[in-house]
Amino acid sequence: MTGTARLAGKRALVTGAGSGIGRTIALAFAREGARVQSSDIDLDTARESARMIVEAGGDAVGRRCDVGDPDAVRQAIADMESDFGGIDVLVNNAAWFPARAPLAEIPEGDWEKCLAVNVTGPFLMSRHAIPVMAKGGGGSIIHIASQMAKVANYGQTHYCTAKGALLMLAKGIALDHAGDGIRCNTLSPGGIATPSMIELYGTRENAERQWGAPMHPLGRLGRVEEIAAGAVFLASDESSFMTGADLLIDGGYTAR
Ligand SMILES: NC(=O)c1ccc[n+]([C@@H]2O[C@H](COP(=O)([O-])OP(=O)(O)OC[C@H]3O[C@@H](n4cnc5c(N)ncnc54)[C@H](O)[C@@H]3O)[C@@H](O)[C@H]2O)c1
Repeated sequence: MTGTARLAGKRALVTGAGSGIGRTIALAFAREGARVQSSDIDLDTARESARMIVEAGGDAVGRRCDVGDPDAVRQAIADMESDFGGIDVLVNNAAWFPARAPLAEIPEGDWEKCLAVNVTGPFLMSRHAIPVMAKGGGGSIIHIASQMAKVANYGQTHYCTAKGALLMLAKGIALDHAGDGIRCNTLSPGGIATPSMIELYGTRENAERQWGAPMHPLGRLGRVEEIAAGAVFLASDESSFMTGADLLIDGGYTAR
């Protein structure tokens, strides 16, 4: 990697890196010189992202981790220490998408799983990464939230509640660990054309027509690269005076 790489020398862990936004962030980080642990509950896709990075000339390892499992989280951080000697950047991107339902019809198990993966997961990852980050002089933690952290949506109270909680999780970490040299921010995408999004609408065209164009003043869904660009900024020293903040990249969804 060149000397101008924006993440040169950084060691990054990206959860949910086997697909969509997480995969694109992992690839973008590696292009900018970071060494990357591509982590996912699906080992095959985690390894596939790592293979893509290595083929492009970067340095990455693919590993399985269920972010809701405390033992697996501890192991993921221990692997960062044994593979790379520490951790400078953590991206809490993994998420579970519950079926839509009005609140009175949400199965209790869906509520619990949504909070376990989408809130407790980022808590656990941060909880165990922070001491290692602090030992290395600091770092940057990024929670991938959503425009749904700011506005509710019909049938998505469980998902919106979880995403809203990430904004406060970031502010709390920002206060408690600024003295350790650790910054923590959220990045909130609007509708992005990822495999999960397209699956929800059947086809890319349907997703654009039913969700992209009507809901986003810019008239379309976002691209994964547009979110990865924000993550590179938050991971890099370019955002060195930014902590406890939300970087909203939503095509104007919440402007109305
Ligand atoms: N796509 C969008 O429109 C959109 C909008 C706003 C926010 N987001 C957020 O962006 C992030 C990525 O979404 P995406 O659209 O790329 O999703 P995706 O489904 O393409 O990728 C999510 C990845 O997380 C992994 N994962 C699921 N549960 C896990 C667990 N318990 N432990 C570890 N990994 C797990 C999946 O295997 C998958 O690889 C999520 O946090 C999502 O909430 C997405």
